[in-house]
Amino acid sequence: MLKIVVLNGPNLNMLGVREPGVYGTETLPQIEERLRHQAAELGVELEFFQSNHEGALIDRIHSAYGIADGFLINPGALTHYSYALRDAFSTVALPVVEVHLSNIHKREAFRHVSVIAPVAVGQIAGFGGQSYELGLSALVSKLKQQSV
Ligand code: DQA
Repeated sequence: MLKIVVLNGPNLNMLGVREPGVYGTETLPQIEERLRHQAAELGVELEFFQSNHEGALIDRIHSAYGIADGFLINPGALTHYSYALRDAFSTVALPVVEVHLSNIHKREAFRHVSVIAPVAVGQIAGFGGQSYELGLSALVSKLKQQSV
């Protein structure tokens, strides 16, 4: 069974409370619950990890080496500047799909750049909590194509 690690970066544990006009009112546990249902339908296994610490996310990426098949990540603000996170993905060389609740391209200029996107299969942004489901479904089709 395909194993996917779902990572969330800084401040995403505060979804529901955090700037609801931008990020909506859904909490991270609610998003994860919907992903669990979707994973059961797709026949894949998910593991969830959220951290406000760059190093903890990097450690989680490393520990997936040789075990997981891919990553779904909302890196939060690390998207825009974390070369260390990007290098961690290049190190383990597993497919990554980047997701964002908001459409980062129509927000402040500093959010228009993703240092993760060049090492990702693709990026989905702007669909609220649904970005995660779209991302999961895109990642799973990619992984299934690879295994044929
Ligand atoms: C975000 C967008 C980032 O710019 C921001 O720092 C976040 C959330 C999103 O999901 O829209 O923390 O990744």
